[in-house]
Formats: sequence, C-alpha cells, structure tokens
Amino acid sequence: MSFNRDLGQHRSQLENQNYLHLENILSDRFTNLLKIYGRQIVDGELDEIEEWHIPGKKRQFLFDFLSKPHFDQFREGLSHLTGEHQDAITIGERHIKVYLDEAPDFPVPHMDRQAAQYTIGFPIHVPEDSRVCFLPQLSRNENTKQCASYADLPAGTDLEDLYEDDQVVSIKGNIGDMIIFQGSTIFHERIRSAGCSILYIKINAAGQDPLGEHAKLLASFANMPADAVAN
Ligand SMILES: [Fe+2]
Repeated sequence: MSFNRDLGQHRSQLENQNYLHLENILSDRFTNLLKIYGRQIVDGELDEIEEWHIPGKKRQFLFDFLSKPHFDQFREGLSHLTGEHQDAITIGERHIKVYLDEAPDFPVPHMDRQAAQYTIGFPIHVPEDSRVCFLPQLSRNENTKQCASYADLPAGTDLEDLYEDDQVVSIKGNIGDMIIFQGSTIFHERIRSAGCSILYIKINAAGQDPLGEHAKLLASFANMPADAVAN
C-alpha cells in the first residue's frame, strides 16, 4: 500500500551514500493521498499547525496515514531499507511543508533535530529550479538537540557559492518519489524553495517522539472505525 517495490534492495546504497533518491517508488494510493493533501492545502481546506508557522519561510500541516495497515506497511518498508526493527521505528515528525513565496533562495544549511535519524521527503509539488541539497563538506557531527541546528559559517560566506561546491548533492524530486537522508547528521537545505510542497516524515529507532506526533497517531488508530483499521 505504501511502496510499489521492496525497499530492501536499496539498503546497501543508503548505507554507502547516507542519502537516497528513489524515483516513482510510492504506490498509486500513497501518491493519490499526497495529491489530495496538496489540493486541500491549495483550496484552503486544511488547518495549518499554527505553532509551526515559520514567518518568511514556510507553513506546515500535519499528515495522517490512511489507516493502520498503511502505517504498518510504511514502517515495514522503512525497516527493510534501514535495517531497523519495524516496531522500533518512531515517527518523530510528519509535516507537510509549504514554502512561502518570500522564502530565501539560499538559506543557511541546517541539521534536523536528533529525533530525525532519517528524514524522508515526499515531494508533492516542486518548481522546476528547486533542489534539496546535502552538504557533506560541512561537519558530520550529530545534532544532539531536539531542535534544528544551523551551520556556523565563516563571516562573509556567499551562500549561493556554498551550494555550488562540487561536493554538494542536489536533487529536485517529483511526486511519487522519496528522498531519504540522515537528517540529524547531514547539513542540508532546500534551495529556491518558494512554492514547494513536501511531506517530511522523520523517523528514529530510539523511541524519540519530541512532538508527541507518534503517540497521537497511535491514538487516532484506536478511534478509527474497524473497517478503516482493517483495510
Ligand atoms: Fe531539515
């Protein structure tokens, strides 16, 4: 229900590169769900998570899985890909981020909070010239805080030049794709992000749920009608 092929075949590639871009990996059902979210956001039918509005950069919306089986199959696929036990995979964050028109083209790179052992991006809408960039030339020390950590760059650093370094990995991504990387240990950022809509699901195998979004998800399954839980 979540993916259209076994993610396990890409495990060694993820281990070697620390990031992975899998094109057309999502099932039609998952892709259609993202399209529905995208349309609801455009039409103003979805409530924004007010406390996560970042003025001048992005709006954020909470993503819910279709059902318990959708959630279970998602974790099963990620278990095959990462080698972590399925039941240990905690969803530390599940936000659809919509980047504002005034978002800067070349922001200072950041690492995600510690609960983002892996950050997984599912593009919903990506303008032609936007890219998510990984900057392996910067520190690889884990961010041990439960908030984002921004790169401490030398004074006068030209940010556009920084992203043009030969070592930088740049990926556009389209709906149906999945981009996974070690969010709390790799500096990254999306450049020319204005107009992008992307679902970010951040996972860890340490039981870290700093926003309570994993617990809230499990509670929502308990309240679902039996047929939604079974299908
Ligand atoms: Fe991030």
